[in-house]
Amino acid sequence: MKVLISCGIVASFFVWNMLTASVTYAYGSSNNSCITCHSDLKKNGNKLVNFMVHDWKDSIHRKNGVNCEACHGGNPLKSTKKEAHIGVFRPNNPKSTVYYKNIPTTCGKCHRSELRAFKLSYHYKHLETVGNGPNCVTCHGSMSTHILTPETIAATCKHCHNYRLAIDPTVPGRAKSALLLISQSRLLLNAYKTIYKKEKTTAKTAWELNSAKSNLDKAISSWHKFNLENVVRLVENMYYNLKAIK
Ligand code: HEC
Ligand code: HEC
Ligand code: HEC
Ligand code: HEC
Ligand code: HEC
Repeated sequence: MKVLISCGIVASFFVWNMLTASVTYAYGSSNNSCITCHSDLKKNGNKLVNFMVHDWKDSIHRKNGVNCEACHGGNPLKSTKKEAHIGVFRPNNPKSTVYYKNIPTTCGKCHRSELRAFKLSYHYKHLETVGNGPNCVTCHGSMSTHILTPETIAATCKHCHNYRLAIDPTVPGRAKSALLLISQSRLLLNAYKTIYKKEKTTAKTAWELNSAKSNLDKAISSWHKFNLENVVRLVENMYYNLKAIK
């Protein structure tokens, strides 16, 4: 109930905000010139650039204070475009932090374990050599607004893994199963944790629960190596841990 009410308040705040909306948004820090200027660009008819701000606005990155310059470079303390844009390039410029081959390093500044795993994958090898491997944004979106779910993953993989391109067409189906397995295992582990609240737990149960969690974490972080068999094996280990609790 409380949640509903506060959602209502938040929603009406946004509606109010949009109705009265002069131009600037309530989110974002007002002393970040990238955000202030880009939020206002639709006046200049520059739809693409304005659209990008909308995209970012809804992202987990904004919620965690990861602003434009974290991925694009530039200087958010300068108010003119010329000064703010020093170091900012278009994505098709090899000097850009978001040039397709540079994207993993840019994201990997913060997402180290994903980058480490990704560098061990066929995908990375292809990206570096032939150029047709997926990079982080192929799967997570330009502004990284989404993570893949079992419902959406197959379609993403099918862009390349299909009979026409003859890149292993069994991948989309297997990826869907693996991701489904991960999400169900998360739920199951959480249920176990709730049942075996710490105070009632024996040392052995606590050990198995810890070990189960660590196996699931390993499965998730090895996901970016794109060795699906390995992901499944690690999740199986988690199930052995849970089975040992009785
Ligand atoms: C005073 C306005 C202004 C400020 C401040 C500003 N930009 Fe821009 N930016 C623009 C405009 C206008 C464009 C559209 C393309 C153009 O005209 O060059 C643009 C385009 C871009 C592009 C697309 C690539 C390109 O160069 O065209 C990126 C990426 C970008 N800005 C990032 C940033 C970042 C990051 C910051 C802050 C460090 C920032 N901008 C600050 C006005 C601004
Ligand atoms: C988490 C990293 C990240 C953040 C934060 C981010 N961007 Fe981007 N942005 C990217 C990537 C990666 C691309 C290239 C997308 C591609 O190649 O599909 C991009 C593309 C763009 C483009 C399109 C340029 C073109 O010419 O196609 C603009 C404009 C842009 N970003 C502006 C912004 C602004 C303004 C902000 C802050 C409000 C911002 N971005 C925040 C990662 C980010
Ligand atoms: C300046 C640091 C920073 C950079 C650069 C960055 N991220 Fe993030 N990212 C974060 C933080 C902080 C979070 C939210 C906390 C968390 O889940 O780790 C996050 C969350 C995410 C999530 C969602 C995780 C979840 O559990 O929902 C994805 C996916 C993601 N980032 C992908 C990317 C991609 C792709 C890039 C490059 C285009 C990128 N990030 C660049 C810091 C960063
Ligand atoms: C081929 C697709 C693909 C590529 C390429 C990819 N990811 Fe992911 N990523 C996924 C999937 C699927 C998940 C969801 C796994 C899950 O639910 O935990 C995920 C999850 C994540 C998460 C959230 C992890 C968590 O704890 O839930 C982050 C952060 C992330 N990826 C960052 C990156 C970064 C950084 C790169 C580039 C170095 C990258 N990803 C490349 C498919 C991809
Ligand atoms: C942009 C194209 C592209 C996308 C999108 C893509 N892949 Fe790949 N993938 C490749 C290429 C190229 C190879 C290397 C094939 C080879 O060497 O024969 C590959 C290889 C693989 C392999 C190892 C080879 C195998 O047959 O087992 C796996 C696993 C894999 N991809 C999983 C995925 C998953 C999961 C997704 C979706 C989340 C995905 N890929 C999305 C291009 C892509």
